[in-house]
Formats: sequence, C-alpha cells, structure tokens
Amino acid sequence: MPASVVLGAQWGDEGKGKAIDQLANESNWAVRFQGGNNAGHTIVLGDTTLKLHQIPSGVTSPHCNLVLGDGMVVDPWVLEEELDRWHSLTEERPEGKRLFISERASVILPFHRMYDSADKVVGTTGRGIGPAYRDRIERVGIRFVDIPFVIGDSDKIDETVSRMNMQLDSVGVNQKVERKDFVADLEWIMDRFGEAIRPTGAMIDKALKNGENVLLEGAQGAMLDIDQGTYPFVTSSVTSRANATHGAGIHPGHVNNCFGISKAYTTRVGNGPFPTELPYDTGPGNHMAMVGHEFGTTTGRPRRTGWLDMVSLKDSHRLNGYTGIVLTKLDVLGGLDELKICTGYDLDGQIIDYMPTSSHDLARCRPIYERHSGFPALEEQEWIEMAELSRSDRKGFEVLPESALSYVRRIEELSGIPIVSIGIGPDRRASIASLGGPFDIDPEVTTF
Ligand code: IMP
Repeated sequence: MPASVVLGAQWGDEGKGKAIDQLANESNWAVRFQGGNNAGHTIVLGDTTLKLHQIPSGVTSPHCNLVLGDGMVVDPWVLEEELDRWHSLTEERPEGKRLFISERASVILPFHRMYDSADKVVGTTGRGIGPAYRDRIERVGIRFVDIPFVIGDSDKIDETVSRMNMQLDSVGVNQKVERKDFVADLEWIMDRFGEAIRPTGAMIDKALKNGENVLLEGAQGAMLDIDQGTYPFVTSSVTSRANATHGAGIHPGHVNNCFGISKAYTTRVGNGPFPTELPYDTGPGNHMAMVGHEFGTTTGRPRRTGWLDMVSLKDSHRLNGYTGIVLTKLDVLGGLDELKICTGYDLDGQIIDYMPTSSHDLARCRPIYERHSGFPALEEQEWIEMAELSRSDRKGFEVLPESALSYVRRIEELSGIPIVSIGIGPDRRASIASLGGPFDIDPEVTTF
C-alpha cells in the first residue's frame, strides 16, 4: 500500500475475491475501476457464500469504504439486489455511508440488457456491458451525474428513447423502451442512490494524501482486455493496471503493488481461442471442472478448462508488471497423476513464446508442454490444517506436498514473478502466504 492493484491474470474467474477480501483488512478504500455486473466475486465467510457482482469485495471489512469507480458501468437494479442481500446478512446499509457510486460511472439501463441479448458472436454475459460502454464512447450514454439533467430535458428524453428503439429494431430485438418507463427508471435511480453518488476520484485522492490505503479491484482478466486481449472475444473495458488508477480517478504514481491472480490451471467462459483447453467431459479437464466447481458466478455457464498457460501469463505480466502472483485453486489439481505447463506455442510449425494478436492465429496455436508429477488429493480440512501449520510454524510454502511445491517453484521460475500466496481451498483460512510477503497476515481479522 498506499494503492495496491489486484488483477485477473488470465480470462477472469481466477478467484480475485478471496485475495481482495484478505487485503481489504488493511485497506481504507476498495475501489472497482472498470466493468460492471458481468463480474462475479465469491466470498466464503464461514457457512455463508456471498456472490457479489458490483459491490467491491472489500465490503466484508467494516472499516473499508467502497467505491464503484469512474470507469465502471453500473446496473442500479442489480446493485439494489446485492445491497438487499448484504443487508439481510449483516443489517448494514452501506450506501451513502461507506459505499459510493462515482458521478462519472455510466448507468446500465434496461435498454442495454435488451441490446446485449442480440449478441451471437462473443458469448457475452448478457448484462448490457458492451452496449453501455458503446454509448459512453459515442457520447450519448448517461452517467450518474447526468441523471437529473436528463430528467429535466424533454428533448433529450425523446431523442434517447427514439435512438434506443431504432437500435433495438436494427438488431432484431422486439422489445421497446417506453418513454414513461425510461423517465421512471431515472427517477427511481435518483431516489434510491442519490445520496451515494459522489465525486469519488477526489475523495480517494484526498484519502491517499491523508496516508490511507487504497485497494483497486480489477474485474475480468488480462486476456479479456478490450485492447490487449483475444479480440473480439473480450469484454468492453480496459482491465489492466494502466486503467486501475485512471478508472478510479487518481494518478498511476500512487500504485506500489500489483498482484496478478492466476489459477494453478486455466479456465475461460464464453467463446474465443483457448490454446491449452482440454476436453470437458473426460480426463484432467473434467477433473478441473468438477473438483474446481467451474461454473460462471454471473451466468452459471460451465467454464472451459485447461492447463496453465505460461505464454499468456507472461504476456499478461508484460502488460501489468505484477509485483506478485496469487496462485489460486492449487488443491484442485490434487489427484491428477501428471500436471502440464504450456511453455510455448507451435503456430503452423513455428515455435513462438507470445500470444499472436489475431484470434484466428491463436486458434491454430498448438501448446508445447512440459510435464510435472502430480500430487495426492486431500480433503478440504487437510488443506486447511496444512495452511494453519504453515502459519503457526512459520513454514510458508514448505508445508506443501513435494511435487506441489516443485510445480509452484517452476511457475515462479518460468514467469519471473514471485508467488506471494497460494490458495488451497475456498475457506478464507485455506491460503498459504510467502513468509514476510504482503499476504503474510492474520486470516481472521474481518468481523463481518
Ligand atoms: P461481457 O463482458 O458480458 O460483454 O462478455 C464478454 C466476454 O467476457 C464473454 O466471453 C464473457 O464470458 C467474458 N466475461 C465477462 N465478464 C467475465 C468475468 O467476470 N469472468 C469471466 N469471463 C467474463
């Protein structure tokens, strides 16, 4: 800290929520800076599983302020559902008190969801993310700060409703936006969230100047970045470190740590090339899917599974300059006889060590693997005990089974990035931190 960034280093769903939850204990602010409710963080607190789509994962730390930042597109209806669920669990209503929506964030309206339903190519989450960003880029979107002005501008309302209906028509969506619903929706958003809409960039800047710690929470992952990912099979925002500060409304000089979250293997939801993909119904790919419960948090779709891809991890490091990797779900690989790491691609007979820019080329890449011995499957409780032993005896990663440790060390060697924490189960105690590293902290501090 002062500002730390947590990013997905693969295609999203790496388990960022747990890492963020741990770091939030030491943060005064947790800020989402891009994306919207296409994201899904799962946090396990004792017997309760929380699925959050827009509320920053830092919500579990009661002292942590929460920001839905400038770079986001926010669905107010989904936010209301999340806040109601949070309230039913904790009796807390954080909105306007410690949860703030940036004035600059864009509003996702029913129109955006309707328009997204026409997608046939990318396999989007259908949450209206791309259409909301498209409106922003076209400079016809509505930011939270604009809502009262739009409500008071009859011409603007007519123009917007007519544009929306023409666009729905043009992609063959039969639904229509009614003028009265559009206005009622905007009025409801102001009633429900008016108190929470704030100039959050200036608030975070002030906090940093007062020496407070800020956690910038990425959503999706490096390979889903609109500019640097596997275009067009990407999301519509910049998911990288470079946008973490920009999308929060502060400058990049504040950041001193950037953690890349990577599974010990790879998953992807939606369409697009995936060089290390394995058959889903059988063998190690099926093992990963079933043992790792690989279903999308937002859509419930099965996630495609494959071996760890060092080529993509290195590309993602080139982009984001990780100061540490959090390796998640290592326990899931337990029980496989052999593990593989992809160290290069064969593209039409040529060996390459980077991801080709074109998705057509990437789809033809054949992975080149190195092989490693597997390690035994353990029960959830055995992994937790291992993690506890690591903490109590100050052993760090040395508690891991020998071949699991050599797999981890090889990932560090190939990537050139230190691994700072290893996830070995969903429970918040089931993590092993590198000794003296940024995750070498008490796992039990959070009071929610
Ligand atoms: P969109 O972000 O809904 O437009 O979807 C674009 C692509 O990104 C699709 O392939 C989605 O499955 C994928 N995607 C979006 N958000 C996430 C996420 O949080 N985790 C994993 N994949 C995601």
